[in-house]
Amino acid sequence: MSIKTRVTEMLGIEHPIIMAGMNWATMPRIVAAVSNAGGLGILGAGAFTKESIKTAIAEIRSQTDKPFGVNLTLALPGAKDLVQIVLEQKVPVINVALGRVADIIKAVHGYGGKVLATVAMAKHALYYEKDGADAIISTGYEAGAHAGNAGGLVLIPSIASKVKVPVIAAGGFTSGKGLVAALALGAEAISMGTRFAITQESDASDGYKEGCIKATEEDTILSDRFDGINCRVVKTKRADVLLKRRFAMVEAVSSAFRFKRELDLSWGEIIKGGLSMSQAQGRSITDMPILAAGLSEMQKGYSTGDGTRGLFLAGQSCGGINDIPTCKEVIDKVIAEAEEAMAALNKKFKSK
Ligand SMILES: Cc1cc2nc3c(=O)[nH]c(=O)nc-3n(C[C@H](O)[C@H](O)[C@H](O)COP(=O)(O)O)c2cc1C
Repeated sequence: MSIKTRVTEMLGIEHPIIMAGMNWATMPRIVAAVSNAGGLGILGAGAFTKESIKTAIAEIRSQTDKPFGVNLTLALPGAKDLVQIVLEQKVPVINVALGRVADIIKAVHGYGGKVLATVAMAKHALYYEKDGADAIISTGYEAGAHAGNAGGLVLIPSIASKVKVPVIAAGGFTSGKGLVAALALGAEAISMGTRFAITQESDASDGYKEGCIKATEEDTILSDRFDGINCRVVKTKRADVLLKRRFAMVEAVSSAFRFKRELDLSWGEIIKGGLSMSQAQGRSITDMPILAAGLSEMQKGYSTGDGTRGLFLAGQSCGGINDIPTCKEVIDKVIAEAEEAMAALNKKFKSK
């Protein structure tokens, strides 16, 4: 049996399973692996410059002929230029977050692509639907990284009852039982971040993967202390330190300089990004260096795997993850479990 929904039909994928785009964690190899296994792999664009993203897209295309996506956090500095390149490359699926998108959606639809909009509140889902988004990714409280205030059990049916486009459920999903629950709540696919970050093809360090596996569902913290926006990370020594003190301005500004250099951004782009970030989040442009310092901590967490030096972005779903499989093994297991769970429910609760 296979599970077909409006999302599988619309995106041309075999299974209703998406890998969330994660900056620095979802690089070309894992994107292609997820798409080749019948899901939708999404590249996190934030780790790339205008030049390197073209190479990354070409690399994905050399490894798969299946649909794939690119995640664009629109409020980040330099995002507008990345959007331009992603549109020129006619990437099949664009996943947008934190920014208004009507023009982008029109351009993507112009070449036959699809747009998935990530939200953590039902009212934002309505804005994106009005702008023409093809599906909404509902991000619950359980999620790794930037999570909402409402749990999935409440948020998924709330959004599904308000929009006509399909909903993709994110936050806390690792298993086939989770997929069945999401379908029952009105979603038509799941998007998993933490689960895919802990796979063979993930570029995150072994220390990050092991740290997440050790963590239980109790061992993550959601706080705005890390990068200025509510963000969920694993409880590590570094997370404890950052919870107790704010970044020193000098530390924050030096991170902003580093990102400017690494991502080849102009000060104009940094200021524009800061302004749109502050509009999107109701924050001040002076929070920009704090965001840069937080991103730097996250990048250190992935690459060093040392919980005393960097942050491990991950969700409560850590509690359901005990192994480091391939992406294909993850997808095959989720689908097999979902089929079993549906059959078991039918058997157990058959109406008389
Ligand atoms: C390691 C990691 C990095 C993430 N990076 C991004 C990102 O760059 N952009 C984004 O929109 N969401 C990002 N997210 C959030 C995911 O899009 C998604 O909301 C979340 O992973 C879903 O919850 P889960 O981790 O329980 O599956 C990240 C999540 C994780 C775990």
